[in-house]
Amino acid sequence: MTSTEVLRLEGLRKVHGDDDNRVVALQDVSLRLARGTFTAVMGPSGSGKSTLLQCAAGLDRPTAGRVFVDGREMTGTESELTVFRREHIGFVFQQFNLLPSLTVLQNVTLPLRLAGRRPDEARAAEILRGVGLGDRLGHRPPQLSGGQQQRTAIARALVAEPSVVFADEPTGALDTRSAREVLKLLQQAVRAHGRTIVMVTHDPVAAAYADAVLFLADGRIVGRMADPTADAVAERLTHLGDDVVRAGE
Ligand SMILES: Nc1ncnc2c1ncn2[C@@H]1O[C@H](COP(=O)(O)OP(=O)(O)O)[C@@H](O)[C@H]1O
Ligand SMILES: [Mg+2]
Repeated sequence: MTSTEVLRLEGLRKVHGDDDNRVVALQDVSLRLARGTFTAVMGPSGSGKSTLLQCAAGLDRPTAGRVFVDGREMTGTESELTVFRREHIGFVFQQFNLLPSLTVLQNVTLPLRLAGRRPDEARAAEILRGVGLGDRLGHRPPQLSGGQQQRTAIARALVAEPSVVFADEPTGALDTRSAREVLKLLQQAVRAHGRTIVMVTHDPVAAAYADAVLFLADGRIVGRMADPTADAVAERLTHLGDDVVRAGE
């Protein structure tokens, strides 16, 4: 089977702040991901995980380097980026980011309406049934549990059939059981529906749901693990940054 490259990062660098308080959040991050893969990104707090996701998803601009999605470079004016994101990218946030005044169904069809596409409510309802919310279409987010809200957000991220879905600590605000449900849904989106997902997590158990783990330290990719187990990931994390520390000594 030939694997189709869906995401390519070339020499990404991101410097936050100005001259007085410069923070180099990413330095020379390059990466290629094939369609239909589930990748976890792990690393210490402040290692650049969120910055990496935001730059790769077109929510923030890298200081240098290039992002390609489906072979097309993500670049241009703000409005061009917005259109590109709507067509190619899904994003799942730790705090769900649903609109509280809209129903579950309206939240899920919103990206289609914003993209000027006719919202296919039957399709949205089908996706919501797929995430176990078939009986909640008319509810509003405040009436739902955290796990149900995150499953709504996942349905919203999937509805436009994006090339890549990015999720930044999607289980960070959830109890263990809801977290497991969310992780199984993400895994199923990859395995059953061929979606491509990149997920930041600090939890080795969550990372073990992915096909591979990328380890970040100090704004650089410092390791990769295929077919991760929670134990192997936890062990690797313990030694993460050893090289960086040694290099700085
Ligand atoms: N908007 C910002 N302005 C200034 N510094 C930032 C900003 N966002 C992140 N940083 C800094 O960049 C580094 C990487 O942050 P981040 O990508 O959020 O790491 P992680 O998600 O791994 O915790 C940190 O030192 C953080 O303080
Ligand atoms: Mg973060």
